[in-house]
Amino acid sequence: MTLDKLKEIPPDAILGLMTAYQADESPDKIDLTVGVYKDSQGKTPVMRAVAESERRLVAAQTSKAYLPPLGVAGFRDGIRKMVLGPVDGAVESRTAVIQTPGGCGALRVAADMYRRTSTEDVVYLSNPTWGNHRGLMGAAGLALEEYPYYNPATHELEVDEMLDKLSRIPPQSLIVLQASSHNPTGEDPDADTWKQVIDIIEERGILPLFDLAYQGLGDGLDEDAAVIRAAAERLPEMFVAVSCSKNFGLYRERTGALLAIGKDPSQKKVLETQAANVARGCYSMSPAHGPLIVAGIFEDPELHKLWLDEVVEMRGRIQGLRKNFAQALANERSDLDTTWIAEQRGMFSLLGLTQSEVDTLREEQHLYMVRDSRINIAGLQDSSIEQIAGVVAPLMS
Ligand code: LMR
Repeated sequence: MTLDKLKEIPPDAILGLMTAYQADESPDKIDLTVGVYKDSQGKTPVMRAVAESERRLVAAQTSKAYLPPLGVAGFRDGIRKMVLGPVDGAVESRTAVIQTPGGCGALRVAADMYRRTSTEDVVYLSNPTWGNHRGLMGAAGLALEEYPYYNPATHELEVDEMLDKLSRIPPQSLIVLQASSHNPTGEDPDADTWKQVIDIIEERGILPLFDLAYQGLGDGLDEDAAVIRAAAERLPEMFVAVSCSKNFGLYRERTGALLAIGKDPSQKKVLETQAANVARGCYSMSPAHGPLIVAGIFEDPELHKLWLDEVVEMRGRIQGLRKNFAQALANERSDLDTTWIAEQRGMFSLLGLTQSEVDTLREEQHLYMVRDSRINIAGLQDSSIEQIAGVVAPLMS
């Protein structure tokens, strides 16, 4: 027997709780687990631009035959422009783009390409980071290391500790940097800190892998990619893993892309062939439905404008929920400084509760959050904010 050697594995730290929430029959249950945007009705809607682009796609589509291995041309071009913005042609000519199954697919393709270079085979992740970074990078065979990032007790970045660690990372190591709306902390480096990070990466010859999962939901589409654009102008090599799950609401369509930027235009073809070859040996090629929807949005000025407006709307709602939640907590506990919740960015914040406090909230109040006390701010509802603040404020410090 062979398969009987396999042991059952505990549920995924995020998806397991999402499933447990779905199975909970309590009418009072509240879901702040997985990072999906919810509107004021508590629904995760199909975005209007997406619905219209999909309608046109289905009406016009005459074949489901294979597309080229790198993916949909209009998607790849549009994503490169969305991420890199108005860079000079020199950066563009060094940039290979491959469509991937979500941002996860992009992270995995990048990790496999890095492993093929037979350099350090080590990846540095922020402490804390998104749980699945460890799973994805570990599955690619990379040794996992950490760099200091955030102190949940003070709700602040550990800037000095981070820079000190980065300046001791061996050359040619891979480092994952979340470009904006850091998951799970919601805390991003400021421009000056990013500059120091890029300085160290350049000096030491470290290979950065920027994870860009929330572009547009932090401060704006351009602002959220600013560090990537600055790095692309200065660094000879880098990866960017792009997700369309959140900013296009295409979660289940698994839509993403990997940008691999090489030292000169001659590397672009090499990187394209390597990325396509990694994908071929793993999942052959990426699904096209989501990328065709996104390409339809990029290529139609009206749909593009509609989508931009919807991103502004989502961002505004998240920022409003942050302010309201910070205020509701302060109303419960006048001794509590909650400004950090209002000032953080993106979908997530860490409340700083213990795992057993989180477990008790789930078991007794049917309030679901990730066990590190990460909450999905974008899942809060005006109708539930006070109730949530009422049960979590007494536990916070
Ligand atoms: C999250 O962090 O909740 C999302 O990125 C969804 C996921 O796959 O974990």
